[in-house]
Amino acid sequence: MILTPTAPEKQPENHYSQFLHDVLDGLSATPKHLQSKYFYDEQGDKLFQDIMNCPEYYLTGLEMEIFTQQTDLLAHTIRKGGEPFDLIELGAGDATKSIHLLRKLVEMGAHFEYMPIDISGHVISELEATLPISVPGLKLTGLKGEYFEMLAKASAISDRRKVVMFLGSNIGNMPVEDAQEFCNSLRQHLSAGDMLLMGVDLKKNPNTIRAAYDDKGGITKAFNLNLLTRINRELGADFDLSQFDHFCSYDPENGACKSYLISLSEQVVKIQGKSIRFEKDEYIWMEISQKYTIDQVDEMAQRAGFTPADHIFDSKHWFVDAMLVAV
Ligand SMILES: C[S@@+](CC[C@H](N)C(=O)[O-])C[C@H]1O[C@@H](n2cnc3c(N)ncnc32)[C@H](O)[C@@H]1O
Repeated sequence: MILTPTAPEKQPENHYSQFLHDVLDGLSATPKHLQSKYFYDEQGDKLFQDIMNCPEYYLTGLEMEIFTQQTDLLAHTIRKGGEPFDLIELGAGDATKSIHLLRKLVEMGAHFEYMPIDISGHVISELEATLPISVPGLKLTGLKGEYFEMLAKASAISDRRKVVMFLGSNIGNMPVEDAQEFCNSLRQHLSAGDMLLMGVDLKKNPNTIRAAYDDKGGITKAFNLNLLTRINRELGADFDLSQFDHFCSYDPENGACKSYLISLSEQVVKIQGKSIRFEKDEYIWMEISQKYTIDQVDEMAQRAGFTPADHIFDSKHWFVDAMLVAV
């Protein structure tokens, strides 16, 4: 599915004050950083789709292989005894992978409702408009907002069994300790017997990993710079994009792949009357894409209160969709 351009998304007032607060907080810290959840405005959604189509960005293709070639296994495991359930997807994006599972579940006559959660209103309205057409018979309730706020809302809507999907190695966009906290909180929002299907990118050749976040076509660079454009537009800042370059590193010892924007000169950027000073070569840490071993995935899940029930790998064993059951 392709996300189509729409009128710019209207944001509630509190979006801007929270965005401003987080940006000023991050850029006043040492080292400077920005939160990767803000990458996804309409242009960010589109650039992320372009990244997924880059030859270097192997992650989407591998998880797509799992969702297209092991759909039966996924569907049967999720469906369990056939009782009705809510299939909740955290950070659904364009749902290009999950659509295969949704079709299979509808075909099988499974009693379920699909609840995509995404912070991007553009993503949710697009899914609401297109998915019921591409998957006839699908019941869908889109939830626009933060993961846990919307998960709580989903629980208030129904008390059916929950199957939560967190795909695309989104868990990797948190440092290890935060990822553990995230899994712990996720478990708190679920009941025993509920499931979590978590897609995780595994440790592999460091060159392969680094190349995925530093594509030759410069799309990842544009994706990172787009956040500065968003800050300029939504918060009235005056970032000069030509004065920032993109840098990416991968540390095979700790599995952390990190993206940065580097200031090419000594400069001062104004954001709503606040001056943010940059030294030449100073960096803004933009994003982490943490890689794990399969044992680390299981340990994190077990510490949070899940039992690993199944590991569904792609044919290269570079990526796993781990099926975890809340105990
Ligand atoms: C990297 S994309 C992945 C999309 C999809 N899951 C996949 O695997 O292709 C991340 C998605 O999560 C959403 N997202 C990021 N942070 C979020 C948050 N804190 N709460 C809700 N959605 C979030 C973004 O808007 C984006 O659509």
